[in-house]
Amino acid sequence: MSGRFLVTGAAGLVAFEATRLLLERGHSVRAIDRFQKGPRTDLDALAARFPGKLEIVASDLAREGSALRDERWESVFHLAAIVGVAYVRAHPYETLDVNLRSTLNVLDACIERAPGSLIFSSSSENYAAGVDARQLPIPTPEAVTLSVSDVQEPRWSYAASKIAGESMLFSAARESSFVPIVARLHNVYGPRMPPTHVVPEMLARCRAKTDPFPVYGPEQTRSFLHVSDCANALLVLHEKVQDKSGGIYNIGSGREVRIDALARMCFDVSGHHPNFDNRPHSPGSVMRRVPDVKKLESLGWKQTITLEDGLAECWRALAKG
Ligand SMILES: NC(=O)c1ccc[n+]([C@@H]2O[C@H](COP(=O)([O-])OP(=O)(O)OC[C@H]3O[C@@H](n4cnc5c(N)ncnc54)[C@H](O)[C@@H]3O)[C@@H](O)[C@H]2O)c1
Repeated sequence: MSGRFLVTGAAGLVAFEATRLLLERGHSVRAIDRFQKGPRTDLDALAARFPGKLEIVASDLAREGSALRDERWESVFHLAAIVGVAYVRAHPYETLDVNLRSTLNVLDACIERAPGSLIFSSSSENYAAGVDARQLPIPTPEAVTLSVSDVQEPRWSYAASKIAGESMLFSAARESSFVPIVARLHNVYGPRMPPTHVVPEMLARCRAKTDPFPVYGPEQTRSFLHVSDCANALLVLHEKVQDKSGGIYNIGSGREVRIDALARMCFDVSGHHPNFDNRPHSPGSVMRRVPDVKKLESLGWKQTITLEDGLAECWRALAKG
């Protein structure tokens, strides 16, 4: 059955893919973004592919919520946020300001006119401090203590905004009737990602034939998920989590990969085989990150794109562009 969905941050990596998937499944979407980070070209192309199904609205949700209000949505996917470690470190107050105010505006609208569900994109950063303090298991399940290790360190402003966002979501749901769902995302990558993240950054260096090849924190580990598997997981959450109390779900891959191994995979897909120039990891970044995704898998979700295949796709897109 087709429905009306609201997607925030729709020009971004994850929300764009979620929008595309919703349209491909026959739904209609109001896609909101402030278009500060990138142009709306891709959304315009999507609107042309699905005539009458995609409404694109330019709006800064931290400043005004009118674009959120006039309908009862089947579901709201609230994915707009300031992301990216370098930007967050340079703009910690702006990160809190934008992430908290836009989430408050979305929640106010949802309290007023309850959608079926509200999915809030949260982050593995919320428990990263506990993993580094060796207080949490790896792979890490959903039911763990959330924390920031140092409120004076600017990078933790992002996790603080996401921890508060999770709390705000469940609190708002008590004053309304929507199903509150937290999706804790873990290192999502894809061809549209800007080179401010590790996968596109490494591939861009391969393209530039950088040698020696700087690798920051080679001993650290992450688990990477292709954006199309992530978008599919968001739809599974919308379709399968019907319990009024909602819940928290990790979205990620259970495969732990060292950063130097990721570099080698990038060398393989690009055919560029430089010497390693190992450098220290950025301050405050977590040593290991692997989600336990059994809860998501119990809903029928499965990762379908291997890291090797995903990297090859990103490389082809980069080489073409
Ligand atoms: N990509 C990941 O690995 C990852 C990991 C953990 C959490 N997340 C979360 O998932 C969501 C999507 O991440 P992404 O990687 O697609 O990020 P992205 O930066 O590609 O997309 C975010 C989009 O939100 C928009 N936006 C930001 N503030 C806005 C505002 N006030 N009003 C309207 N639009 C606004 C931006 O313009 C951008 O297009 C974010 O909430 C992020 O915190 C992502």
